[in-house]
Amino acid sequence: MHIERLRLTDFRNYHELDIALPRGLVVFRGRNAQGKSNLLEAISLIATSRSFRTNSEREAVRWGAAGHFARVEAEVVRRKDTLDVEVIVADTGVEAPASAIAQATSGAIASPPLPAVPFRKRIRVNGMPRRAMDLLGKVTVVVFAPTHLELVTGSPSERRRFLDLTLCQVHAGYCRALGQYQKVVTQRAALLRRIKEGEESPHALPFWDEQLATLAVPLMRTRARFIAHAEGTAGQLYEVLARDEGLPESPLHLAYEPSYKGPLDVADDELTAAFRARLVELRRREIAQGANVLGPHRDDLAFYAGDINLTTYGSRGQQRTVALALKLAELAYIEAETGDQPLLLLDDVLSELDARRRADFLDAVSDLDQVLLTITDATSLPETVQTRAYVYSVEGGQVTLEASPASEYSPDSSMNM
Ligand SMILES: Nc1ncnc2c1ncn2[C@@H]1O[C@H](COP(=O)(O)OP(=O)(O)O)[C@@H](O)[C@H]1O
Ligand SMILES: [Mg+2]
Repeated sequence: MHIERLRLTDFRNYHELDIALPRGLVVFRGRNAQGKSNLLEAISLIATSRSFRTNSEREAVRWGAAGHFARVEAEVVRRKDTLDVEVIVADTGVEAPASAIAQATSGAIASPPLPAVPFRKRIRVNGMPRRAMDLLGKVTVVVFAPTHLELVTGSPSERRRFLDLTLCQVHAGYCRALGQYQKVVTQRAALLRRIKEGEESPHALPFWDEQLATLAVPLMRTRARFIAHAEGTAGQLYEVLARDEGLPESPLHLAYEPSYKGPLDVADDELTAAFRARLVELRRREIAQGANVLGPHRDDLAFYAGDINLTTYGSRGQQRTVALALKLAELAYIEAETGDQPLLLLDDVLSELDARRRADFLDAVSDLDQVLLTITDATSLPETVQTRAYVYSVEGGQVTLEASPASEYSPDSSMNM
């Protein structure tokens, strides 16, 4: 799929922006703090109703915006249809820094008092109101920013978050099960603590064991399926990039490491029963700790080159390569499951790669429907890419088309108001 038109109103440092975007490789180039990442953030909001940079989307409302809301609208061309998606985020009472407001309003007038905004976030698809849940999977994105290195180097919770965000975009059932599972984990933990304190009898546990096991099974299965699929795609790119690094060519192995250690290739009933039996074995320990010690909330994903665990022993270069490879594997999986190719958003990733890996990486993504890439002024694009890319300059919330592939049709030049 690709975004054909993007319109922003009072989103971050954009007052009004309305640009047409081409398919293929789209590069946003500019100095620091000009609004490059903000553009990618706006697109991620269209896809998931979430920002990939903050948990509090209302931060995105432009400081001093008179309407106290930010609006992002995109026309997305998918394989079989075109969607018009609009997300409005309301600023319900956060104060931007006073200096920022003064600057945004040119010091002329202070921001008027906040009106009573009756919503925090409003989503419309083709003009029809939708819930955030209904948006998932309609427009899919894969985002890669330098912080995603933590996928490899960080704690298991980073990898679980990755698995959950990927799988929620694709499988509504996974997302529902995950939400319920998290509630069960919370309630069961509270119960275990009360049992530990002698305030409750352990007789209440089997009911919660059953709930936990029933919800854990589809989560583990979906994760296992994704990881098996991802290994193939990630392995290919890893091989190419690793060769550039002069690394020994041990193939990349992705290992699902569920906290439940029994065999997964059995029927659902059998797996649920085995999981419950394991909970019984762990009974004393769980009560002593007052915590859930078994289940998908303790899963992990490991990356091996040969028998070397790259989270612990990988070089920075290897770890970066794995993270990139994993993101492209995510893209391939989403495409395989939904029949539509996700948008690929790459925030400032080239500066971390040397020239050769930069060229190889861009080569690997060159055939995708649409890749939106930010680079700083100092970063050069490989020559092979320059002839193919549409390059926009981003400066102070203004976006201007600078260069387009000579021979091809170029979209309407951008309009800034
Ligand atoms: N809510 C907001 N209102 C106005 N400006 C904002 C808001 N949030 C961030 N900014 C501004 O956006 C700019 C950063 O944009 P960003 O896209 O991250 O830059 P870069 O081009 O380096 O990727 C900064 O100048 C910052 O002050
Ligand atoms: Mg940035």
